[in-house]
Amino acid sequence: MKFFLDTANVREIAQAQELGVLDGVTTNPTLLAKEGRDPVQVIREICKIVDGPVNAEVISTDCDGMIAEARRWAELDEKIVVKIPMTREGMKAVSRLADEDIPTNVTLIFSPSQALIAAKAGASYVSPFVGRLDDRSENGMDLVSKIIQIFDNYGFETEVIVASIRHPMHVVEAALLGADIATMPYSVFEKLFEHPLTDVGLAQFLKDWEKLQR
Ligand code: G3P
Repeated sequence: MKFFLDTANVREIAQAQELGVLDGVTTNPTLLAKEGRDPVQVIREICKIVDGPVNAEVISTDCDGMIAEARRWAELDEKIVVKIPMTREGMKAVSRLADEDIPTNVTLIFSPSQALIAAKAGASYVSPFVGRLDDRSENGMDLVSKIIQIFDNYGFETEVIVASIRHPMHVVEAALLGADIATMPYSVFEKLFEHPLTDVGLAQFLKDWEKLQR
């Protein structure tokens, strides 16, 4: 399973990169706005840090506007994946961008039929938002499971990015379902490393070793 960080914060990305298990980054307009800096510069900096795909989203809502923006993002770096919203105009853009070999990630996926349409349009990735469904008492992981089954049934190469992750169990459940990628906030990424028994066990090992040295 690949781990992506869902952030536009270069400090967090650099810290995660040092840990050696980071495979890519997703951003969105909200995350870039949070940084309060030139978004193009931020994406450039992220591309310098990360070895894998770096996702940048379009803000146009019409097909031609999305394609123009996607081309501009793609020119920045070969790592760029362009996030396109799950709309009719978006799917037109995805299909044309696939012809230009510009990789796309269809975002704001909330139903299996939306994921199927995105894959048929030629999306490289789809992003089901599990947390936002769970927030509404719907089952985000049930959606992921259905998308994986549909893609397996027809041999779609589109990768599933489990997005809108809220806690480590979302990552574990996504891995159990065989999702390709989990994209998560830095706070969740950090928690994946931790267990209190690891800390207690290590402290005891060191204490006992110290006794031997006396
Ligand atoms: O980047 C897309 C997605 O991960 C957003 O998550 O927490 O705003 O629902 P969230």
